[in-house]
Amino acid sequence: MTGKLAGKVAVVTGSSSGNGRAIALALAAEGAAVVCSDLRREAREGGYESDIDRTTDDVIRLAGGKAEFVDADASRYADVENLVASAVGTFGRLDVMVNNAGIFTGLHTIVEETEDEYDRTMAVNAKGVWLGCKFAIRQMLTQDPVDGSRGRIVNIASIGGLVGLAAEPSYCAAKGAVVNLTRQLAVDFAAERINVNAVCPGFLATAMVRPFLSDPELNKVLHEKSPWPELGTAQDVAKATVFLATDDARWATGTLLTVDGGFTSP
Ligand SMILES: NC(=O)c1ccc[n+]([C@@H]2O[C@H](COP(=O)([O-])OP(=O)(O)OC[C@H]3O[C@@H](n4cnc5c(N)ncnc54)[C@H](O)[C@@H]3O)[C@@H](O)[C@H]2O)c1
Repeated sequence: MTGKLAGKVAVVTGSSSGNGRAIALALAAEGAAVVCSDLRREAREGGYESDIDRTTDDVIRLAGGKAEFVDADASRYADVENLVASAVGTFGRLDVMVNNAGIFTGLHTIVEETEDEYDRTMAVNAKGVWLGCKFAIRQMLTQDPVDGSRGRIVNIASIGGLVGLAAEPSYCAAKGAVVNLTRQLAVDFAAERINVNAVCPGFLATAMVRPFLSDPELNKVLHEKSPWPELGTAQDVAKATVFLATDDARWATGTLLTVDGGFTSP
């Protein structure tokens, strides 16, 4: 394969659907061997993918790329440790780690939100990213730099990590944690030539957001609040992620790349 990531090895969590799937496909299109991982290999129902009946790793292989699937719950220590070990075992090293897996438990204020909803959100959206960074960095520190980099980490945060989104308390808390963990790790590992950056997407069409988009009132509010005439797509998130995963972003670390059609700009 040719491309900006030819010969590189990438891991993507939550890669079966939505943003993670688009990211895995885009990394593979740039030549990376991609280790796809999720709770299950099949895409979530309710997604907007045109090829939803095929698994992400199958789509990559059918296009002539290299991919494998590893079953991993991003919130579980042993699963994430095994995921990184499996990528290194199969492909020899780890160049790109994309911590994308995330959940959203619905709209409610903190008064109605249950302790279980908070715990689950923090476990996947915050601890999951911490685990992905921990095991990726541990591996990258053992690798000699290639083209000046030991490895690149891209965390998929959200505009919910930058501003308060109405009725999303634990989601915003978790994404705020991802945003500042990204900056903290950038400081600790810049000297080792490990880049740690985040993409902060706005609202876009995936299975996670279908409840908003299929509700006429919520759909109208999202469009009214968006300066850009239409909402974004998973491909917009994927392109920003690929940029941060390549040498094009050589000197970018601790960056929060907002991709939101201007939602957080007013
Ligand atoms: N869609 C949006 O508008 C939007 C906006 C900002 C940020 N994000 C973020 O993008 C990321 C992906 O979201 P999406 O919209 O594609 O959602 P999605 O629900 O469409 O896909 C999420 C994928 O992650 C997987 N997943 C969930 N929990 C997991 C776990 N514990 N371990 C491994 N995999 C798990 C799911 O099975 C699914 O395949 C999330 O971090 C989300 O917070 C999404």
